[in-house]
Amino acid sequence: MTTQNSNKVVDAQVAFASPPTSDEFCREAVVDTDASAHAKSAEIFSHNRRFIPGGVVSVNRAVQPEIVFVKGQGAHIWDADGNQYIDYHAAFAPHFLGHNDPYVTDAVISVLRNGASLYGSGTTKLEGQLAELICRHVPAVESVQFLNTGSEATSQAIRLARGVTGRDHIIVMQGGYNGWHDDVSCNLMTPLVVIGPRVSPGEYPYIPISAGIPRKHQELVHPVNFNDLESVEYVCQKYSIAALITEPILQNIGIVKPEAGYLEGLRQLADRCGFILILDEVKTGFRHGIGGYAKIAGVTPDLVVFGKAMANGYPIAALGGKKELMDWFVHPDPSKRVLLAGTYNAHPVPTAAAIATIERLLMNGGEVYRHVESLGQKMQEGLEKIFLTLGIEAVVARQGSAFCIYFMDHCPKDWHDLAGHHDFGFDEELRRKLIKLGTYFFPVAAKQCSISFAHTTEDIEATLEQIQNQLSEMLR
Ligand SMILES: Cc1ncc(COP(=O)(O)O)c(C=O)c1O
Repeated sequence: MTTQNSNKVVDAQVAFASPPTSDEFCREAVVDTDASAHAKSAEIFSHNRRFIPGGVVSVNRAVQPEIVFVKGQGAHIWDADGNQYIDYHAAFAPHFLGHNDPYVTDAVISVLRNGASLYGSGTTKLEGQLAELICRHVPAVESVQFLNTGSEATSQAIRLARGVTGRDHIIVMQGGYNGWHDDVSCNLMTPLVVIGPRVSPGEYPYIPISAGIPRKHQELVHPVNFNDLESVEYVCQKYSIAALITEPILQNIGIVKPEAGYLEGLRQLADRCGFILILDEVKTGFRHGIGGYAKIAGVTPDLVVFGKAMANGYPIAALGGKKELMDWFVHPDPSKRVLLAGTYNAHPVPTAAAIATIERLLMNGGEVYRHVESLGQKMQEGLEKIFLTLGIEAVVARQGSAFCIYFMDHCPKDWHDLAGHHDFGFDEELRRKLIKLGTYFFPVAAKQCSISFAHTTEDIEATLEQIQNQLSEMLR
């Protein structure tokens, strides 16, 4: 349990994982009941714990069972003990084409063979090529900059919004995730006993998922529920809002979709109240379509952020949007200029990977999207049939290749809805059982599952069969 006297912190692991109805912040350690299958993994973890706090370099990867993966190819991953899995985690979603996609790998090898290096001086042809590709295919982007991670990009987007508007306050979503920095490290899977009942119109307290965030800073951040326009309006009347940042679909608590008119409503409120609308498409971008989910929804944000699927697993992110806003990065008045810098920005390896990924997505009239949609549909229909046959109260929320099973009778519209109805324990139990059988669903309840272009009909059928068998056993 991680709490501070005067400033409650929900520990990041819990923020991602805990059944929210529990009034304890901590979740019980889950013992790996299949330890013999992961003996080599355990050895590597114990070595790494001697040198790395917790033995792993991103706290979000610290889950049970502790498995060390050593290889990824296509839709499959292998662990240190030689076990093979059909992968639906996709490293938190970047591997949209599949692990080690040959087209992307060739592009990376080729830039290195051709002598590309991180020159760190001047511009490069590659970064211009990638920028042009994105501006041509993403309607919301007239001008674009590159960073290394989604968190860097959302941080820069918020700074830009503050610079442009001269305002300090921002609105974030309860149940949204936009990275690890101070503005957004809050209010993800907040237990309901901590966050309190639904308020609308209103706002929720900032519940940090990290220690070390200055209290004064927290006062600038206003969490509201997704799909709640009244609360956005309410907050705008109380504070001078620089920006609202949201994923267009909440994909860090499964798949929580915008209701009809919600994103359009945000656009109208942004215009009326003068805040910058930032769509965080780090998870939705390129996975749901080349133009981002914004294009599908027909809504144009002021700024948009991409990462993950944009380079099929290589570390690069993009921040783009209206040229008049992006030009504040080179504002002629130094007092208005917004600093954007980074030693590794547009490193040739991830830049080449991003170009190749986008080229691949554009090939054959969108064959990648047709394939994943057809597999996603097969998965959804198969799951729904299983739930009906077994009499299980469950629904599948899905957008193309991304889906989530909720053990409740409807798809959630926001965090309170999800936290109040979903059976988190049953969900986690199913995920752990599937891992034993060779299907890797990330073992944390309500996390998105991702299908890639490399998955096959046989993969989906094998997974459905395993799910049917496991659920039957769990009901017994
Ligand atoms: C929607 C969204 N935004 C931002 C981020 C942060 O990206 P990164 O982990 O690359 O910093 C994530 C990461 O999961 C995300 O899902």
